[in-house]
Amino acid sequence: MRCLVFLLFVALANARVYTRCEWARVLKNNGMDGYRGISLADWVCLSQWESSYNTAAINHNTDGSTDYGIFQINSRWWCNKGRGVTSNACNINCSELLTDNVQVAIDCAKLIIMDSGISAWVAWRDHCKGHDLSPYLAGCGL
Ligand SMILES: *[C@@H]1O[C@H](CO)[C@@H](O)[C@H](O)[C@H]1NC(C)=O
Repeated sequence: MRCLVFLLFVALANARVYTRCEWARVLKNNGMDGYRGISLADWVCLSQWESSYNTAAINHNTDGSTDYGIFQINSRWWCNKGRGVTSNACNINCSELLTDNVQVAIDCAKLIIMDSGISAWVAWRDHCKGHDLSPYLAGCGL
């Protein structure tokens, strides 16, 4: 029982669900506000619709690839999940995108922006592009 509680604690310590404003602050502290012309509100909106701010989010795609973490970064192009074809452009193990060390996901997202722009994220195109994004930063004091 003690062992089980310990394992549960470890599992919780390794993943994290942020609140909207917490995540906005983390992004800002990591230089994402205005990075390559992308506003902080765009990043928050994208994260809301991709993962609901959950670093442990995983979704499987019909092409056999998998999307990982708070930005739902795809294994076909950006990370190695150990199976199937990958370009692994971020040069990481996909599981590194699922921990509370969000630096890995943020660095990879910056690379994606440089390579493909924010339109690489379908959720951004569908839910954020052209929308009033002020609600995503409302009340955050940023
Ligand atoms: C990625 O990391 C996990 C957990 O540490 C490990 O089990 C897996 O073998 C690694 N995969 C690759 C492709 O290195």
